[in-house]
Amino acid sequence: MGRLDGRVAVITGGGRGIGAAVAEAFAAEGASVLVNDLGAAMEGGGHDAGPAQETVERIGRAGGKAVADGTDVTDFAAVQGMLQRAVDELGRMDILVNVAGIIRDGMIFKMEEAQWDAVIDVHLKGTFNTVRHASAYWREKRGGQYRIINFVSGSGLYGSPTQPNYAAAKMGIVGLTFSCANSLRGYGVTANCIAPIAFTRMTESLQGKATIMDYSPDNPRISAENVVPPVLYLATEESDWINGRVIESGNGRIGLFSNPVMTRQIVTDGLWDTDLAIAEMETAFREAIDQPNPFARPRKRGSDD
Ligand SMILES: NC(=O)c1ccc[n+]([C@@H]2O[C@H](COP(=O)([O-])OP(=O)(O)OC[C@H]3O[C@@H](n4cnc5c(N)ncnc54)[C@H](O)[C@@H]3O)[C@@H](O)[C@H]2O)c1
Repeated sequence: MGRLDGRVAVITGGGRGIGAAVAEAFAAEGASVLVNDLGAAMEGGGHDAGPAQETVERIGRAGGKAVADGTDVTDFAAVQGMLQRAVDELGRMDILVNVAGIIRDGMIFKMEEAQWDAVIDVHLKGTFNTVRHASAYWREKRGGQYRIINFVSGSGLYGSPTQPNYAAAKMGIVGLTFSCANSLRGYGVTANCIAPIAFTRMTESLQGKATIMDYSPDNPRISAENVVPPVLYLATEESDWINGRVIESGNGRIGLFSNPVMTRQIVTDGLWDTDLAIAEMETAFREAIDQPNPFARPRKRGSDD
C-alpha cells in the first residue's frame, strides 16, 4: 500500500533537482504524476523536453505511472490545458506541487527591470496560474481532499541581500498560500509552503564555500531526496489538520515556521500624539526585536542594533 495510491499529482519543475525527487517519491507511493518542466536554464530562458521526459522514464523503470509535460508555467492559458491534460490522461487531479523556479540574482540598487520581471513571472505568476485553475476544478468537485504545496525559500523568509526579486516572489507565494488556505478550506483543499534546502544546480555554486551547510553532491543530508518527507506528508489525506503553514525541509532538518503574529501593540483612545507614539514604540518595540537572522549584517556606523 502506497501513501498516495489512486491519487494524481501535478508537479511543476519536476524535471530536475527537488521537483524530480518529489515526482519520483510520489510515484513510488502510488500516485500517477504529471511531470511538468519547461527545461529552462537556471536564469530562465530556453526550452528542453529532456528533463521532464527523463524523470518520467525513471518513474516508468521503477514501475510507476507518469506523463511528461513541457508547459511554461508563466502561460495562463497553457497551464489550464496542462491541468486538463492531467485529468484527461490520468483520470483526475488531487495534488498540485509548485516547484518550478529560476534565479537572477543582483543587489537591489543594480537590479534590471528584466531581472525583476522574469523571476516574479516564473515564481509568483506561475504559482498563481496553477493554483487559479486547479482551485476552479476542485470547486466544481464539491467534495474530496485536495492539496496545494508551494515551494518558497529562506531567501525571502530571512531576507537574502542579493536576491530581492526572488525573495519578493517567494514571500508573495507565502501570502498567496495564506489566502488560499482560508478561501479553499471549505472545498477540501489545504495549502502549505515548503522552504527547501538542497544541493541542486541552483546551489552548486555554494559547494566548498564557507556556509553553515555542507553543499556537496556526496552529502546525503543535503540531497534533494532529503527534502521530500514533509512534502509527501502534506500531499496525503492524513495531513488535513495542517493548513496555511510554512515548513523548512533540508539538510536533515524539518522545521515549522511560526505564522506572523503581532508581538507588541501600543494603543491610544483617540488621535496619537506623535511624541508619545514614538516614545512608546522605542520602549515597547525595541525590546521585542530580537530575531536571529542569518542574513542580517550590522549597520556600519552610528547604530547599536
Ligand atoms: N535548492 C535549494 O536549496 C532551494 C532553496 C530554496 C528554494 N528553492 C526552490 O525550490 C524549487 C526547486 O529548486 P531546485 O533547486 O530543484 O532548482 P532546479 O533549477 O534544479 O529546478 C527547477 C526546475 O524548474 C524548471 N522551470 C524553470 N522555469 C520554468 C517554467 N517557466 N515552467 C516550467 N518549469 C520551469 C527548470 O527547467 C528546472 O528543471 C525552486 O522553486 C527553488 O526556487 C530551492
